[in-house]
Amino acid sequence: MVQPRIRRRAFDTVSPAPAAAPVTPAVKLTGFVRQFGQNRVIDGLDLSIAPGEFVALLGASGSGKTTLLRTLAGLDPVGDQDVTTPSTRAVVFQDARLLPWKKVWRNVALGLKDPGFRKGAVRARAEAALKEVGLGHRLDAWPSTLSGGEAQRTALARALVREPGLLLLDEPFAALDALTRLKMHDLVLNLWHEHRPAVLLVTHDVDEAIALADRVLVLNKGRIAAEEKITLERPRAPDARFQAIRRRLLGHLGVEAPASHEGALIAFPTGEAVQ
Ligand SMILES: Nc1ncnc2c1ncn2[C@@H]1O[C@H](COP(=O)(O)OP(=O)(O)OP(=O)(O)O)[C@@H](O)[C@H]1O
Ligand SMILES: [Mg+2]
Repeated sequence: MVQPRIRRRAFDTVSPAPAAAPVTPAVKLTGFVRQFGQNRVIDGLDLSIAPGEFVALLGASGSGKTTLLRTLAGLDPVGDQDVTTPSTRAVVFQDARLLPWKKVWRNVALGLKDPGFRKGAVRARAEAALKEVGLGHRLDAWPSTLSGGEAQRTALARALVREPGLLLLDEPFAALDALTRLKMHDLVLNLWHEHRPAVLLVTHDVDEAIALADRVLVLNKGRIAAEEKITLERPRAPDARFQAIRRRLLGHLGVEAPASHEGALIAFPTGEAVQ
């Protein structure tokens, strides 16, 4: 099998990108192609993400969002193509994917592979990460006893415990109720401010993308077909500027925004997440 040629850089701890100076990107793809048989899913895609930048990715079901995310996570072969990413990356999927036979803290500690760690130190790091996501009291719980939101928070703790330079989120809140999802938005923003990884968030929820990201991209026909820089101050109220961005993004997605949707959540149909 062709070994993936992944260029890794030491962006494990990153600070916010300075406004003026040119920044070496945390993620860079140029003319990237990925195909399955005759199906060319990613077709000459260019993508650059700055260290510490929060990018959201929208696109119709089957447009290749998960395929792109898996490439950046190093989960798929890339042949002889150059894929620049930070050396440490972490992924959170739509389902938390916790191991049911391991207690919550041990699930989080799975991210800590360093054999130099003593058990006590590993548990302390897992505990600190779980405290950050508000689950310091569930260290010894079994995954089956967690709510959906708690399971996703555990998955976030597991992702962040190794201080990734790139955090990849594939529809991580899609299965949660609206209120829990809003709480998760706040949590993710707080964690991002604290740890400053570059983030690529795949979502079908246009409002979620605008609420969270510095930049929203639309994937279509294997390429980035549209881009919106979001300069609104956080927390972002659904004001006129927000609505204008939403209308433009929905237009890029081929959806007409009904005029009466002020302040309502708009999501376009989701599809099956690829495992
Ligand atoms: N391992 C694979 N083998 C063959 N085809 C694949 C494989 N993985 C993905 N595909 C195909 O690539 C295309 C893009 O799939 P992908 O999962 O990336 O879409 P997506 O944008 O994440 O969709 P969704 O929004 O439904 O999650 C689809 O046509 C899918 O069938
Ligand atoms: Mg997907």
